Amino acid sequence: MKITSKELREKWLSFYKSKGHTDIGAVSLIGDGSTGVMFNVAGMQPLMPYLLGKPHPAGKRLCNVQGCVRTVDIDSVGDASHFTFFEMMGNWSLGDYFKKEKTAWTFELLTKVFGLDKDKLCTTVFEGNDAAPRDGETARLLEELGIRKEHIFYLPKSDNWWELEGTVGTPCGPDNEWFYPLDGNESNPVFPDDYVEIGNDVYMQYKKTENGYEPLENKNVDTGFGFDRMLLFLNGLSDGYMTDLFVPVIEKLEELSGKRYSDGGEDRKAMRIIADHTRTALMLIGDEQGILPSNTGAGYILRRLMRRSIRYCRRLGVESSAMLEAARIFIDIYGDAYPLLVEKKSYILEEIKREADKFEATLAQGIKEFEKCVQSLERKNAFMAKSNPDYAAETVIGGKQAFRLYDTYGFPLELTEELAAESGLTVDKQGFEAAFAEHKEKSRVLAAGQFKGGLESHSVMATRYHTATHLLNAALKIVCSPDIMQKGSNINEERLRFDFNFSRKLTDEEVAKVEELINAQIKGNVPVVMEEMTLEEARARSFVGVFGDKYGETVKTYSIGEFSKEICGGPHVERTGELGTFKISKQENVSAGIKRIKAILK
Ligand code: ALA
Repeated sequence: MKITSKELREKWLSFYKSKGHTDIGAVSLIGDGSTGVMFNVAGMQPLMPYLLGKPHPAGKRLCNVQGCVRTVDIDSVGDASHFTFFEMMGNWSLGDYFKKEKTAWTFELLTKVFGLDKDKLCTTVFEGNDAAPRDGETARLLEELGIRKEHIFYLPKSDNWWELEGTVGTPCGPDNEWFYPLDGNESNPVFPDDYVEIGNDVYMQYKKTENGYEPLENKNVDTGFGFDRMLLFLNGLSDGYMTDLFVPVIEKLEELSGKRYSDGGEDRKAMRIIADHTRTALMLIGDEQGILPSNTGAGYILRRLMRRSIRYCRRLGVESSAMLEAARIFIDIYGDAYPLLVEKKSYILEEIKREADKFEATLAQGIKEFEKCVQSLERKNAFMAKSNPDYAAETVIGGKQAFRLYDTYGFPLELTEELAAESGLTVDKQGFEAAFAEHKEKSRVLAAGQFKGGLESHSVMATRYHTATHLLNAALKIVCSPDIMQKGSNINEERLRFDFNFSRKLTDEEVAKVEELINAQIKGNVPVVMEEMTLEEARARSFVGVFGDKYGETVKTYSIGEFSKEICGGPHVERTGELGTFKISKQENVSAGIKRIKAILK
């Protein structure tokens, strides 16, 4: 390696620090919701308010290396240059220096610090349109620095304008992009074919409005150079998985699979996908606002990444525990830059394992089921073609079938689509959505029915007691015995009654401890989260409750943080804070080995 990832990180930061910038460090990868984007997609994203004029506590000159997650290109991962996680080396002027200093510094960094040849550098500037003028000033400054005039190109908005797509109210502006010939193309390189973009300086002096742009009071600079890209490039490599950020992981996958990365083909693709997706997954789980796989929002994207990776483990012929091995290595590689990963290491590994185990349990069956769908389609096509030579073969997997794969085997729709594409088929997406909606409605009706049957009234108080019963069930397991199970329950407006297996009355200390645990949960105002999943999944995720044995049956589950996880029809309060104060009012004997507690909420 000519330059290691560690050195590159340090060089970027120390160069900009020497120009008066403060290293503000990286922030969470998870979007703060202000832009409606789930993940941080650019280094500037968390700085938006400051680019719009709010003073930043660290001053007007900032720099960092910021992790970003972009999943729009997830299907392209597997080639040499697509990643779902990457880092952006950034620096910013918030209404401080502008084009003169910025062009000079980028030039200095590229030619002096990184040793690139100024005669080979190419650069592009904005050609101008109705909204903003041609950026002749930047072009002139670049020429004065020594870049060859014929290497400075004026390009339209589609190339040289930077803004976060689709977001009104955000800062934006013309950018100056920097290019250098790929290794091996250096003798007589021709722009743009022999060149790669290595980074850009955005002159952020506009704010995007509904109809166009308005000038900002501050003239800002927003610089972004791709860390992974630059590392690759400075080392004369063309495969993004051959930098020191990946090599040890690829070697591990080679060792586990007995396959060689250099042989290319499907095995190499699988190794890249496993490596990329595992890296993103552990970054998201180990983030300061860490998320876990789930069926909605960012958690769903995480689940998709993990399940795709697990599937490619199978293809490569390794156990999904290969992801754990990969994750361990990544944590070593990134531990210096992201110390939280080291701190959360065992948690991250446990969660990866949990998702892998859960999915593995049904994956093989799901794939069989999918193959059945394909076979029946093929049979139908063959049959129809016999009687009608003009018959156009059907190439769409039905929405109901796709929903069954989702519901019973936990296949994200995109996974079914991918499998379908491999057989030259597509999936009826609308049909899937319709089946999904129908299923939701059915469970709603079912839950309402269960509610009528199981509870005496539909009141707010009864709902509160219902949630309190879950808390009591969980607390008794902690204080008295993990073997405690609900043997009966009855709720009215005034109290809850809970029967459970235990040989003796609770001592005064135990009563106090149970109350204390429950009241702490109430005080924490914990959200009560409902999720629907298959029984298999509920079992795998340690939800307690009555398990039927109908395979693939969908159940409702309620979690109160990690404290209580039960299968239940509901209803429950939205947050535990609504419960007031919990107090055990009475203990009774029901029968040998069964005790009863009555409790009230005040
Ligand atoms: N915001 C610019 C980018 O993401 C620097 O490329």
